[in-house]
Amino acid sequence: MQDRRQLESLDYLFDHFNTTGYDHLVISGDLSNSANQGDWKIIRQKLENHGLYHWDKTTVIPGNHDLIHLEEEMRFYNALNPLPRVRKKAFDRRVLEFCIFFQELITGEERGDNAFPFLKIINYSSVRIALAALNSVYPWYPADNPLGARGYISPGQLRAISAQSVLKSLEDCVVIGLCHHAYKVYGTDSPIDQAFDWTMELKNRDEFLSVMKVIHAKLVLHGHFHRFQNYEVNGITFINGGSFRYNPHCYSELVIDGEGGRTQRFVTLSP
Ligand SMILES: [Fe+2]
Repeated sequence: MQDRRQLESLDYLFDHFNTTGYDHLVISGDLSNSANQGDWKIIRQKLENHGLYHWDKTTVIPGNHDLIHLEEEMRFYNALNPLPRVRKKAFDRRVLEFCIFFQELITGEERGDNAFPFLKIINYSSVRIALAALNSVYPWYPADNPLGARGYISPGQLRAISAQSVLKSLEDCVVIGLCHHAYKVYGTDSPIDQAFDWTMELKNRDEFLSVMKVIHAKLVLHGHFHRFQNYEVNGITFINGGSFRYNPHCYSELVIDGEGGRTQRFVTLSP
């Protein structure tokens, strides 16, 4: 994200969002390439410059590349062979760092700890939108998550987001789920692709899907793969917003009307 052309493209994109007059921007993770806080700073600064750094204007969640530095994990593991508990603690600390860094866009509260899962309910004149966000980044483990790209949503988060009190507050909302990892992993039917794709999958995707059903989510937004893609699973539309790095002129637009009707398309700007 240090590249000048990329920064210009980001300015162009945010300018375009403001000119078009979108109500809300969702960034579905992987702001950085190697857990580099410098990249987070750049995104925050750009959002501030464009007046988008507000709780009701933008929502952000972390991706695996924000929380896991693969080479560092391996070096640390090979040198010290720390207990899984110790590594999990270090991982939780990084989640916390992310949440505190972007607290304005996450909980909007003074302290951003214990952020996940979080619920953001925004009242517009014709519709109430609820974003139900879960952290799906799973710590690096040598055998179970060798690339750090596998996802898992903790049972605690799944329980909390589907608690009775939460369901009550969601009653008159259009509910949109949000996590970093995809439900649908396989890009092709090729066995070779499928053998590789387990390293990228959301391990407990069916539990996640059940919870999305319980909270009556109509849509789920995610990232992780560089594809601009939408697909249906059990009546829920999943939208992968694609990748800025892959195509900085393309994004997913979602329009929700007062009757709960929704249209989604991928917009490509002419650079
Ligand atoms: Fe990712």
